[in-house]
Amino acid sequence: MASDAIKTALVTGANRGLGYETARQLIEEGWTVWVSARSQEKADVASHSLGNMARPIEIDVHSFESVEVAFEDLGLSGDGLSALINNAGADYDNDQRVATADLNRVRGIFETNFFGAWCVSIAAAPLLAEQQHSTIVNVSSGAGSIFDMGAGTPGYSTSKAALNALTRQLAADLKPQGTLVNAICPGWVATDMGGGGRPVAEGAAGIVWAATLPKDGPTSGFFRDGKPIAW
Ligand SMILES: NC(=O)c1ccc[n+]([C@@H]2O[C@H](COP(=O)([O-])OP(=O)(O)OC[C@H]3O[C@@H](n4cnc5c(N)ncnc54)[C@H](OP(=O)(O)O)[C@@H]3O)[C@@H](O)[C@H]2O)c1
Repeated sequence: MASDAIKTALVTGANRGLGYETARQLIEEGWTVWVSARSQEKADVASHSLGNMARPIEIDVHSFESVEVAFEDLGLSGDGLSALINNAGADYDNDQRVATADLNRVRGIFETNFFGAWCVSIAAAPLLAEQQHSTIVNVSSGAGSIFDMGAGTPGYSTSKAALNALTRQLAADLKPQGTLVNAICPGWVATDMGGGGRPVAEGAAGIVWAATLPKDGPTSGFFRDGKPIAW
C-alpha cells in the first residue's frame, strides 16, 4: 500500500481558470500535481509555469481512450494518487431555454461535464484505493442545484445536477476504500466561463478544501466555501 505521506493530485482542465489555480494552490501546499489538459501542448505550457511539482499530462475527457492512455502513464509513475479533481467543464448555455434546447449541444455538454467526470473517476478509483485515504472533488455549480432550478442554462444545469447524483453514487461505492467524494460549487468566479465574479483564488480555495479533507472529513456532500448547500 502506498504511503499517505505522498500527496499527488490530478486536476482535469488545469491549463486555465479554476483548474489552473487549484493546481497552483495544491502545489503551494506541497502536493505534486498532474496538470491535465486536452492537448499535450496546453498541459506542457501550464505545467512549466507551475514549477517542478507540476507534471503535464494530456487528457481530453471526451475521449475514453485518452483517459485510458493517461492512466497507464499515471499508474506507471509510481507516485500514487491521493486526489482527483474533476474540474473540466464547458458551455454555460445561457443563450438557450429548456423547452427549445438544441439537444445535440446538450449531449456535448453532458460528454464533458458528466460522462467525462464519470470516466476519469472510474479510471482513478483503483489508484485512489491504494491510499489509506483519498478524495474525489466534482466541480459542480449552484446551477445544478435542483432546489434552485429554473429554466435557463438547460444543458449546463442538468449536466451539473447529474454530476451531483454521480457524486452521491461514487461516495457510497468508494466509501469502503476510504475515498471521500464531494461536489463543490466554486461560486461565481472571474474565469473565461464566469465572465465576471469573485477572484479565481477564492473559488479554487473551496475546491482545495475538499481535495485536502482529513480522513474523517465529510463525504457525499455539496459545498460552497466549505459549507453545505442545497442539492
Ligand atoms: N467560473 C464560474 O463562475 C463557475 C461557477 C460554477 C462552476 N464552475 C465550474 O468550474 C469548472 C472550471 O470552470 P472555469 O470557470 O475555470 O472555466 P474555464 O476557464 O472555461 O476553463 C474550463 C477548463 O475545462 C477544460 N475543458 C473543457 N472541455 C474539456 C475536455 N473535453 N477535456 C479536458 N478539458 C476540458 C478547458 O480546456 P480548454 O482550454 O482546452 O478549453 C479549461 O481548461 C467547470 O466545471 C465549471 O462548470 C465555474
